[in-house]
Amino acid sequence: MIMRHFTSVNDIGDLTVAIKEALEIKADRFKYSTLGRNKTLMMVFFNSSLRTRLSTQKAALNLGMNVIVLDINQGAWKLETERGVIMDGDKPEHILEAIPVMGSYCDVIGVRSFARFENKCEDYNEVILNQFIKYSGRPVFSMEAATRHPLQSFADLITIEEHKRVERPKVVMTWAPHPKALPQAVPNSFAEWINAAGYELVITHPEGYELDEAFVGNARVEYNQMKAFEGADFVYAKNWSAYKGDNYGKVLSTDRDWTVSERQMAVTNNAFFMHCLPVRRNMIVTDAVIESENSLVIPEAANREISATVVLKRILENL
Ligand code: CP
Repeated sequence: MIMRHFTSVNDIGDLTVAIKEALEIKADRFKYSTLGRNKTLMMVFFNSSLRTRLSTQKAALNLGMNVIVLDINQGAWKLETERGVIMDGDKPEHILEAIPVMGSYCDVIGVRSFARFENKCEDYNEVILNQFIKYSGRPVFSMEAATRHPLQSFADLITIEEHKRVERPKVVMTWAPHPKALPQAVPNSFAEWINAAGYELVITHPEGYELDEAFVGNARVEYNQMKAFEGADFVYAKNWSAYKGDNYGKVLSTDRDWTVSERQMAVTNNAFFMHCLPVRRNMIVTDAVIESENSLVIPEAANREISATVVLKRILENL
């Protein structure tokens, strides 16, 4: 499938083909090492990162690209993002000039821009990411935006495909406690990709943490965490803040009964444990579970290099 931008599962085409391509690249990650010759990737971060920063840069190097990294909050001018504002405050540059300038220095742009929880409509309309798509003149891919984290979800899917013991595994995505408000991007995106893959998906969370129905799709929502875990082949833990109504972006619970421990894992089908990282131990998951032989958190993170290599390869092929 021809790829111009990559912001969701809809941009990747047939998932069976994408997984096959990912496994081929994993077997020989330098196979396309000349594809990106004299092409420059610009990675723009509005938020912190460890895995996305390193794995995407490594993917670009696998393909022979040059890489420029810009941390907007460290050394760049503070950007105004609202049109029509009288810029007499602390933001000396407007994003509407900054974006095309950035585009003039590169061939492909990756953007990380989390939900800001100031305006739900702006977050769910992906205002920042879409401005890059509209004004940069370059292919743009998401390195986690307000509503989705597709490079992570693609890596999650590769990891499940590598470890699944049945054709259609039962995957349980569970909310787990966290002291701060986190966006819904990872759970939204995970649900979207797992639904697209056709696995059995159960989502479990305390009442009040319902996700946008557009992402939940055909997944079953089960408020009883122990019941949800019964017979699971994969457990995917993640915190998210409330999505619904006036509670958007709020922390409604930090109930540590929801922390994934050996108690819940005992009722699964010897399930693998997954988390996108970074993870707060003994809030999201106990030391024992994350250190167990069924924990996939490290191979899952390693697969971020593979998902990013596939996406960049496809974008380069279409330049
Ligand atoms: N999972 C993930 O995206 O990690 P980083 O926030 O460290 O990039």
